[in-house]
Amino acid sequence: MSQKIKKIAVLTSGGDSPGMNAAIRSVVRTCAYHSIESVGVYRGYEGLIEGDFVPLDARSVRGIINKGGTFLKSARSKRFRTVEGRKLAHDQLLKEGIDAIVLIGGDGTFTGGLIFNTEYGFPVMGIPGTIDNDINGTDRTLGYDTALNTAVEAIDKIRDTAHSHDRLFFVEVMGRDVGHIALNAGVGAGAEEILIPEEDMGIERLVESLERSKKSGKSSSIVVVAEGDKIGKSVFELKDYVDAHLEEYDVRVSVLGHMQRGGSPTCYDRVVASRMGVKAVESLLEGKSNYMVGTIHDKMTLCPLEKAIKGKSKINKELIRVSDIMTT
Ligand code: F6P
Repeated sequence: MSQKIKKIAVLTSGGDSPGMNAAIRSVVRTCAYHSIESVGVYRGYEGLIEGDFVPLDARSVRGIINKGGTFLKSARSKRFRTVEGRKLAHDQLLKEGIDAIVLIGGDGTFTGGLIFNTEYGFPVMGIPGTIDNDINGTDRTLGYDTALNTAVEAIDKIRDTAHSHDRLFFVEVMGRDVGHIALNAGVGAGAEEILIPEEDMGIERLVESLERSKKSGKSSSIVVVAEGDKIGKSVFELKDYVDAHLEEYDVRVSVLGHMQRGGSPTCYDRVVASRMGVKAVESLLEGKSNYMVGTIHDKMTLCPLEKAIKGKSKINKELIRVSDIMTT
């Protein structure tokens, strides 16, 4: 293993996700294992521009594997999108004697890393951290599994009250551009309908389906809606529409929101975060750069950052079919 790299920085950027702390811990401990220094950067690229660094060692990351959020904090930096901002960030890295950086985040984070690497040739390695699972080159992103479990648990609870009052609930889950959370949590919670950005069900078909559902003897229903669903109506507009067209329904809305981004990571997310941290640091030490670590069929892989951010990960068509059959 090449030992040219002596000091590695780690940052978390973009929307936080459960498992980010576990990934930071893994990066820091892998550095310690290989006898190299590690440095945390506060508030993502903002902290990089301002030189907001903290030296880390194996002991400074104890007790965080089970904690949601990111102790390094996260931000969406407008300044890093500018040439001047990136120049300042580069100056700070040089001043601190940092040789490479691990970026934990989603497509915005990786796009920034890629531009930075192109401009300065500075070694970067990505770890996919976002609850949306909208990154290519990995089966799952960090935090996605936890978010799914959070969403299913919340929908189960909504189901209890929906059933008691014979109500229809529109439950909005996160997913601005992709429907992975909606589809999987919807199937997992036995939703009657699932609306996702990848498929346009059409409002008329939704109404027809709800009518059929009522006639078939269902007294309560759950419709899971991804933030960015194709019908293009918010959950509140959907409620108004159904109120106006299906008088027999008593409709309520529940927006799960940012609770999906928090909470203690599942065992899956903790384990995969630990594996990704090791792979990220060791890949940098092997002289690799401009990749994102991922898992494909449970094997650790490297995907060029450029590919990771191109297009969104594909929705599982087989699962859409399963969902259709389950709602018969
Ligand atoms: O991290 C991705 C995401 O969770 C999206 O699903 C959601 O639309 C967005 O973040 C909301 O982010 P914020 O409120 O932090 O801007």
